[in-house]
Amino acid sequence: MKEIEELKENIEADLKAVQTLEELQEVKAKYLGKKGLLTQALKRIKDIPPQQRREYGQGVNRLKAFLEAELKKRQEAIRERELESKLRREWIDLTVPIKPPFGSLHPITQTLERILRIFVGMGFSVEEGPEIELEDYNFDRLNIPKEHPARDMQDTFYVNREGYLLRTHTSPVQIRTMLSQKPPIQMVAPGKVYRRDDDPTHSPMFHQVEGLVVNRHANFKHMKFVIEEFLREFFQTDLPVRFRTSYFPFTEPSAEVDIGCVICDAQGCRVCKDTGWLEVMGCGMVHPNVLESCGLDSEIYQGFAFGMGVERLAMLLYGIDNIKLFYENDIRFLRQF
Ligand code: PHE
Repeated sequence: MKEIEELKENIEADLKAVQTLEELQEVKAKYLGKKGLLTQALKRIKDIPPQQRREYGQGVNRLKAFLEAELKKRQEAIRERELESKLRREWIDLTVPIKPPFGSLHPITQTLERILRIFVGMGFSVEEGPEIELEDYNFDRLNIPKEHPARDMQDTFYVNREGYLLRTHTSPVQIRTMLSQKPPIQMVAPGKVYRRDDDPTHSPMFHQVEGLVVNRHANFKHMKFVIEEFLREFFQTDLPVRFRTSYFPFTEPSAEVDIGCVICDAQGCRVCKDTGWLEVMGCGMVHPNVLESCGLDSEIYQGFAFGMGVERLAMLLYGIDNIKLFYENDIRFLRQF
């Protein structure tokens, strides 16, 4: 019985010293393992003289039950303590305000919106057409006959279906609008266009905004006013604007519009090739053949049209010298807008 008493004292001392689950495991092994002290004591029961065997056996078994209960209690206490400290360590303050970084609109989108906002302010509607377009709308009805050089394979991407192509300009939206709406028409048409062209100022895909006004009295003076107003609003300065005689099959007379170079203030630089002028759009009075191809009587109706490149305007507005920057999506570039 003295042996049991000692064993109990040792067990209590060992349990008291335990701090971690590993230490607890060690105590368990020390007493209850295969060669554990209690295990051995249990094995010895059969060697004890019969008079003391019962008392000894009960004592050892009680001690075993005591140890097992203590181990379980300790284990739960340690687990709880570890969980608590873990919760304290990994605490997150869910009330800290999170501010996700804001992205920004692509400079081409911003420029498009800037252009459209000005025209919508002047009472223009916004129309759209498909990028895979009928050859008929992109060329024939725009007074560009089959043999015209603009149809050359060098300029146009044809698609694998007779009569279709990737539109080379937004002018087919003129046709679509005149076929589906009655004058007075006053619209702008933004969108992507495609040409076989690729260098620092040309991209095989770029954006245009087309403009079309058709009514009974539209004239060149109206067109000049609208375009000058637009350009001064777009660049936010009272810049010099000039109309230079040009040729487009779908307008007559036709003109190209130049502005005083916004890069060098018309002093002459690399961008304006030392001329002080920058070409920014094409325009003209809608050719009678085009009106007639859309079923409009050219004796009654007159119109003017214009078309501009969005990338070109964006490059001038922001001072960007390589068109490829718009398509690479380099975040260091985009972040500046
Ligand atoms: N479609 C012409 C181009 O892409 C631009 C233009 C539009 C010219 C309307 C005159 C009238 O170059």
